[in-house]
Amino acid sequence: MRVWIDGHIVDGSEARIPVTDHGLLYGDGIFEGMRIYGRRVFRLEDHMARFAVAAKALALELPGGIRATRQIVLDTASDFAADEAYIRLIATRGDGPLGIDPTTCPEPRLLCIIDRIAVYSEEKQRVGVDLVTSSLRRPSPDVLDPRVKSLNYLNNALAKLEAKQHGADDALLLNAAGMIAEAAVANVFVVRDGDVLTPPSTDGALEGITRATLMGLATAHGFRVLEKSLGRFDLFAADEAFLTGSGAGVVPIRSLDARTIGDGSPGPVYQKLRAAFIEAAPSMGVAFE
Ligand SMILES: Cc1ncc(COP(=O)(O)O)c(C=O)c1O
Repeated sequence: MRVWIDGHIVDGSEARIPVTDHGLLYGDGIFEGMRIYGRRVFRLEDHMARFAVAAKALALELPGGIRATRQIVLDTASDFAADEAYIRLIATRGDGPLGIDPTTCPEPRLLCIIDRIAVYSEEKQRVGVDLVTSSLRRPSPDVLDPRVKSLNYLNNALAKLEAKQHGADDALLLNAAGMIAEAAVANVFVVRDGDVLTPPSTDGALEGITRATLMGLATAHGFRVLEKSLGRFDLFAADEAFLTGSGAGVVPIRSLDARTIGDGSPGPVYQKLRAAFIEAAPSMGVAFE
């Protein structure tokens, strides 16, 4: 692991931040998770755009602005020099006294971490993941807008913990109305009668960049793609289902709450779209030196 911190790139074991950082004290901050595929930062401009808007939503001034932040991502990628990797870009409110007031923090802190990642084992990526419906609900957009990738991931972490405690791989999170929002850190897709369906962000889903890519590829392959409210029934009745995310990749869902999805094996639409994604991903990235 390598980390950009305070203008230098250091080994992960050497990177330190003060305990007075409001990202730690209050979860006051934002992040992006990005992938390097084929030695290119996948959809870097989209990640930068989402990061810039999230910063604006939190009234957080990025030190040096978004152009400087983009360059930090590329410099960190160059330093690591891997064909495949995961990048975690973080902006916190920065150091301040105890007390939640963000105006007491004079300067936000930027961090950029790069490492390899495997959210699911190779075996799980091949056969599919098992989900359980979480007892926790996704916060509604008027509580915490899902379009902001904030450092408030307790809801997601506790849902994941609950899933693991039940022997599953991941959690399915519903919103307050009982409709599907997303998995702990991935978007949900359902395939039914040849249509490719995914919940809208108004149901509590992050507007995932892998999700947008899959929607584009599915459209290009002639599928009807719809953002549509979905319930658990839609997953039980699905021919196929899969998850997407920068960390998760594109992985099939094998079961939900002990009901097999489709025939229990990765379906033809999933296989076609995943192959298209793997082929297209490197060409959708920004090269680094
Ligand atoms: C809550 C949540 N939903 C969905 C996703 C997937 O979004 P993306 O494809 O932009 O990584 C993520 C990030 O990985 C996430 O944290």
